[in-house]
Amino acid sequence: MKEATANNYDIKDLNQAEGGHRRIDWAELEMPVLRQIRERFKKEKPLQGLRVSACLHVTAETANLMRTLQEGGADVVLTASNPLSTQDDVAAALVNRYEIPTFAIKGEDNVTYYKHIRAALEHKPHMTMDDGADLVSSLFFIEMGRYEKLEPSLASWAKGLSDEERKEFLAGVIGGTEETTTGVIRLKAMEADKVLKFPVIAVNDAQTKHFFDNRYGTGQSTIDGIIRATNVLLAGKNFVVAGYGWCGRGLASRARGMGAQVIVTEVDPLKALEAVMDGYQVMSMAEAAKIGDFFCTVTGDINVIDGPHFEAMKNGAIVANSGHFNVEINIPALKKMSVGEPTLVRPFVDQYTTKDGRKINILGEGRLINLASAEGHPASVMDMSFANQALSAEYMAKNADKLEKKVYSVPNEIDAEIARLKLEAMGVRIDTLTGEQQHYLSSWEEGT
Ligand SMILES: NC(=O)c1ccc[n+]([C@@H]2O[C@H](COP(=O)([O-])OP(=O)(O)OC[C@H]3O[C@@H](n4cnc5c(N)ncnc54)[C@H](O)[C@@H]3O)[C@@H](O)[C@H]2O)c1
Repeated sequence: MKEATANNYDIKDLNQAEGGHRRIDWAELEMPVLRQIRERFKKEKPLQGLRVSACLHVTAETANLMRTLQEGGADVVLTASNPLSTQDDVAAALVNRYEIPTFAIKGEDNVTYYKHIRAALEHKPHMTMDDGADLVSSLFFIEMGRYEKLEPSLASWAKGLSDEERKEFLAGVIGGTEETTTGVIRLKAMEADKVLKFPVIAVNDAQTKHFFDNRYGTGQSTIDGIIRATNVLLAGKNFVVAGYGWCGRGLASRARGMGAQVIVTEVDPLKALEAVMDGYQVMSMAEAAKIGDFFCTVTGDINVIDGPHFEAMKNGAIVANSGHFNVEINIPALKKMSVGEPTLVRPFVDQYTTKDGRKINILGEGRLINLASAEGHPASVMDMSFANQALSAEYMAKNADKLEKKVYSVPNEIDAEIARLKLEAMGVRIDTLTGEQQHYLSSWEEGT
C-alpha cells in the first residue's frame, strides 16, 4: 500500500482507517452482486482510463462501489453528497487502503462541503456519479457563469477562472449517473430547460434500485435512525409518515411492524388511496399535526411540515426527515416561534421550546435521519443500488457517444441481470417459461 499523499484528500483523521477497513469488509459480506461485478470488472477493465468524480454518501457500501469502479480501471475521486452522512473511518480507509482521493468530513459546514465538490470538479471527470445532483448542478452553474446560484466561496473561486478554464470542467464529461429521486427530478428539470449538457442514467428509476433501496432500505434505516437518536418506544404511538411513495411505503410498513399506529399524509390522490387500502389512516398534515407523536417526511418536497403544523403539535413531538434535502421541515419557522436557541438534549436531538412552552424535538437538523444518526441503508440494499451504478457506468462508457443530452432509464437488461445475480447469490431458483408458455403469452389466437 502506498502512502496517501497529503494534498489529495480531506478527511477527519487518517488514523481511523483500521475501523473503516473492518466496516468495509463487513459490508462486503452482504454485497454479493457487486462482488460478482467487481470480479468481472477486474478481468475486463470496462472503465479503463476514465476519470470518475463521485458525489455520494461516504459509507462502507460506497467504498465497495469505489473499489469496483477502480478494479474496472477507473481513476476515482469521492466527495460527500451530504454534510452529515460521512463515516469518517471509512473515508480514512478509502485513502489509506485503496488510495482513493476522498473529500468528506462528517459534520462539515457548507463552505467545506462545496470545497470538496470543487475537488471533484478539479479531477476533470469523464463521468459524474451523483446523489442529489449537487456535483452536476455545480458543474453547469460554473460553466454558465451563474455564480449567484453557487455557494459563495465556490462562486468566488469560479469567478477567478478564465472562460476557458471554466468550460474545461465540462468539456471532457461523456455522461453521468444519478442515484436518487431528488437528483433525477432536478436532472429532468435541467433537460426540460435544455441546460443538461450530457446524458445521465437515472439509477434511481431501476426497479432493482427503488424497490429495495427506497422501500426496504429507507424503511428500516429511518426507523433505526429515529430509535438511535431518541430511544423512544414506537409501539402504541402515532407515527405520521408524510409521502407515500417508495420511501413512504417502506417507512409506514416498518413503523407498523414496530407497533405504531401509522398515519399517512399525501398530495397525490392515487397514493393516498393506496395508503388507505393498505390499512393506514390518511389525513391532512394539519389534522395529523394535532395527534402525531413522531413525524417523518419522505416527500422530496419543501416545507411539508410548516409553521402552522408546529403550532398544532403536542408537547414532546419528535420530528424527522428522511427525504433527500433538509427542506422538508420548515425549521426557520419553528425557530421564529421558539424562545431562545434549541437545546441539544441528546446527540442529533435539537429541542425547541415554543413561546407557549411546548418542547418540539427536531432530529438530525432535519437532514436524512437514516444517515445522520444511523448508518444509512444496510449493505444488502446498497448492493442492488450500487450494482446498478457500476453497470450503468459500464453502459455509459460503451454507449455515451450514441446517447443524447437526456435523462435515461437504466436499460431493462441491467435491471434483469441484477435481479438474476441477486437471486443466484441468495440461492433462490425460479422457473423459466416453457416453449408452450412462451408461445401462449405471445399469441392473440388462444381464447376462452
Ligand atoms: N433516506 C434515504 O436514504 C433515501 C433513499 C431514497 C430516496 N430518498 C429521498 O426520499 C424522497 C422520497 O423518495 P421516493 O422515492 O419515495 O419518492 P416518490 O416520488 O416515490 O414519493 C414521494 C411522495 O411524496 C408525495 N408528496 C409530495 N409532496 C407532498 C406533500 N407536501 N405532502 C405529502 N406528500 C407529498 C408525492 O405525492 C409522492 O407520493 C426523495 O427526496 C428521495 O431522494 C431518501
